[in-house]
Amino acid sequence: MTSRFPDGYFARPTVARVQDHLDGGTDNYLADREFARDLVAAAPWLPGSVRVNRAHGPRVLDCLTREYSIDQVIDLGCGLPHGDNRDVPDEVRRMVYVDSDPGVEAHARMVLAERHGTVSLRADLADMPALLAAGPVARLDRGRPIGVLLHAVLPWLGDEPAHTVLAALKSWLPSGSVLSVTHATTDTAPEAMAALADLYEGVGIGFRPRSGQQVRDLLASWAPLEAGGPVTTASWRRPTHLHSRFDPSHAYAIIASPGDRTS
Ligand SMILES: C[S@@+](CC[C@H](N)C(=O)[O-])C[C@H]1O[C@@H](n2cnc3c(N)ncnc32)[C@H](O)[C@@H]1O
Repeated sequence: MTSRFPDGYFARPTVARVQDHLDGGTDNYLADREFARDLVAAAPWLPGSVRVNRAHGPRVLDCLTREYSIDQVIDLGCGLPHGDNRDVPDEVRRMVYVDSDPGVEAHARMVLAERHGTVSLRADLADMPALLAAGPVARLDRGRPIGVLLHAVLPWLGDEPAHTVLAALKSWLPSGSVLSVTHATTDTAPEAMAALADLYEGVGIGFRPRSGQQVRDLLASWAPLEAGGPVTTASWRRPTHLHSRFDPSHAYAIIASPGDRTS
């Protein structure tokens, strides 16, 4: 029987498992934990940043369902399920989790089987035509708005692939749809972010935190749904008096709509 896991899969860190370890999860291996130790030595705030950014997902789902009446959602680069990061409001009738990591799909299948209307798909954002044509995505009702989460995923893509993903989504999504993006930034701790990128490069993984302006540029053809520039994930929709002095996010949060069609 052929394994669904590529050679060396368990001996090398993967983004999803490292993230799981940093978030206090147990779906990870020695290679992930050792690598995470190096990451935390370079950026001691990293576990706190992972936690606050993961907590953002359920907050966005609440916003999509309550404010935009969205009941079908695709979570692109969903990562491993842990804690309450898979809490989905009852109003979401169809939830499609997508990740390229085969371990994510294996776990997601087990955990998600318990929730009606939730499916897991292994697909790569590098091939958007295939991803959008895959059954669980293609079966969504494009006569109604769809919510898309791209949380902590674009930093793993170069500029060109990131633009390609966003352009494919923009022309595929029906009007009224909402895209939610979170993105690690170089604006708040540039040296530590550069050290993290170097460490990832050492294990063959491209990590590209971007400035607020670069994130804005990526989303230039999308219509922002909130005034002002991107805000940090910790301060997103929180009153100013609740913003922490030492913001743990090191990432921005934006919601946007595809706006007018260009095609
Ligand atoms: C840092 S985790 C973020 C997980 C989750 N979205 C969150 O916010 O907690 C990034 C995830 O993106 C996935 N990923 C990275 N590149 C991808 C690609 N090209 N296609 C699909 N998934 C990808 C990784 O496997 C990983 O699970």
